[in-house]
Amino acid sequence: MKHIHIDLGKDSYDIHIENGLLDRAGEFIRNMTKSRTLAVISDTTVDSLYGDRLERSLTGEGFRVHRIVFPAGEEHKCASSLLTLYQQLSDAGVTRSDYIIAFGGGVVGDLGGFAAATFLRGIPFIQIPTTIIAQVDSSVGGKVGIDLPSGKNQAGSFYQPKGVLIDPELLRSLPVRFIHDGMGEVIKYGCIHDVKLFELLETLNDKTIFPYWEEIIERCCTSKARLVERDVLDLGERMMLNFGHTIGHAIEGCYGFGHYTHGEGVAAGMSMLTGVTEAMGLTEAGTTARLRKVLEQYGLPVDVTASAEELLPYISNDKKMRGNHMTLIILKAIGQCRLLPLAAEDLPKYIRKRENQ
Ligand code: GLY
Repeated sequence: MKHIHIDLGKDSYDIHIENGLLDRAGEFIRNMTKSRTLAVISDTTVDSLYGDRLERSLTGEGFRVHRIVFPAGEEHKCASSLLTLYQQLSDAGVTRSDYIIAFGGGVVGDLGGFAAATFLRGIPFIQIPTTIIAQVDSSVGGKVGIDLPSGKNQAGSFYQPKGVLIDPELLRSLPVRFIHDGMGEVIKYGCIHDVKLFELLETLNDKTIFPYWEEIIERCCTSKARLVERDVLDLGERMMLNFGHTIGHAIEGCYGFGHYTHGEGVAAGMSMLTGVTEAMGLTEAGTTARLRKVLEQYGLPVDVTASAEELLPYISNDKKMRGNHMTLIILKAIGQCRLLPLAAEDLPKYIRKRENQ
């Protein structure tokens, strides 16, 4: 079992990682709280695969469990799901001395976490993430929220969980495209912070990676924990986690959400941006080729056909644009990145390499 402590003063918590941990969730949660009632928020996919197993583990420790299940999919991370959720929590008689368990991928974690942050002005919650993106990124660091018609994650809050329980064996049931999707974020950690992780990924592929998940998740969560400790409100260093995301979000938006997954957008975004910064001499020579090779090993795109002009309108809607300025995250080399503050008018030249560069 691997444990990572995330030190945030009174909001500190532990991340626990172990194969088979789902069946011991009750024991772990019992050590965290004397509450009697738990509301387990999940989606139809996760609930049908693992809901009974989790409930058995929780009731075995004497908890009364309310399962709240909503349809799977990003389109359900919305205000109407949130209102339904509040009503279900209220109908179940959940009080501030009870706990919410967000059991699922990023959508469940964000929506369930936002419900926890706001229902009865805040009740404690625990994350049990079930997808790669949720296990290596979104369940850690307290970003919770919903999408609005005007954009992703536009209503939200920082609200830290009381703990994160990660069972890498749950990844075995993921369809291959979800594996690829998650690998976009995993490769990102190697790029920005952890050359050893990148080197490990270079030796593996989407079929041989399974025995390494505990180690990989630990490395990603450790990187994230240290960044969040130094910049919990995402005003400085935490922005490094956005490497590839500015162009990635634009790709997702430009092609219509659902065409490229989040991880695919991030993958193409990292590769396109690094191609440009390497040509400008800001990134060590050879980095783009190395990055593209790894992305391709995990079935990820390294470019898209859209032009800079087609992508740009989706970037100006990005919440990372502050006034007329934004911050791009660029690689110095594999395992090292830096923040590059930019005026909006300079952005187009970072999206695509021009012929004369
Ligand atoms: N997913 C990026 C962050 O938590 O800051």
